Amino acid sequence: MITLKSNREIELMKIAGNIVYKTHQYLKPFLRPGITTKKIDDLADQYIRDQGAIPSCKNYQGFPASICISINDEIVHGIAGNRNLADGDIVTLDICACYKGYHGDSAWSYAIGNIDEEKSHLMKYTEEALYIGLKEVRPGNRIGDIGNAISNFAKEHHLGVVKELCGHGIGQNLHEAPDVPNYGTINTGVRLKEGMTIAIEPMLTAGSPNVEILDDDWTVVTEDGHPAAHFEHTVVVTKDGYKILTGE
Ligand code: MF3
Ligand code: CO
Repeated sequence: MITLKSNREIELMKIAGNIVYKTHQYLKPFLRPGITTKKIDDLADQYIRDQGAIPSCKNYQGFPASICISINDEIVHGIAGNRNLADGDIVTLDICACYKGYHGDSAWSYAIGNIDEEKSHLMKYTEEALYIGLKEVRPGNRIGDIGNAISNFAKEHHLGVVKELCGHGIGQNLHEAPDVPNYGTINTGVRLKEGMTIAIEPMLTAGSPNVEILDDDWTVVTEDGHPAAHFEHTVVVTKDGYKILTGE
């Protein structure tokens, strides 16, 4: 079921989303060679709770950490541990927070020190792909329009589109209908309406888009070991477009 959110619900989602945004800003200066992913996860957990929210990922279907931290060829759902960030890595923080029963969800990829050309190309165009997808968000447009725009843009820039994972509706649940794939056909799928809240999240790869799951049963990696990037915002469909909820 797709729920349209009331103004009151949208206000709560704005607070949840802003906490996610602030958590990203808070963590950014810590993302340096030598820090462990466990330390980043602990800092995130404490910061989110200090804002009066709960890290939505913690225990979500048994997920063991507070945020998802994925490095290089890891696409999503990386679990924090005793691993260090190193110069030349890209690290994706996928942060979800629940405030008074409403969720916000935003992922962002960050460069650690100097990254190579393959990674910088990937990062630049995956971030742009998010905004290319967002441009399609307005009442009357359809879910397929978003995915179509993202996959065409990815193709133009020789990047792979991960098909096994997608964006999603969001609200009182972290994942709600509808699915928002990063590929699709124009003028197909659910029609967007004012008050829908969705997370748009292109996950693009520098090499093959095919994925594997590690033995921890969570971490999704690229099959060929080439890097992946991931940028995500939670938005609400407005009368004439959209508003980003996971921003300032
Ligand atoms: N933002 C992530 C997603 O949409 C949340 C992952 S839930 C977790 O897939 F269980 F992996 F943490
Ligand atoms: Co998401």
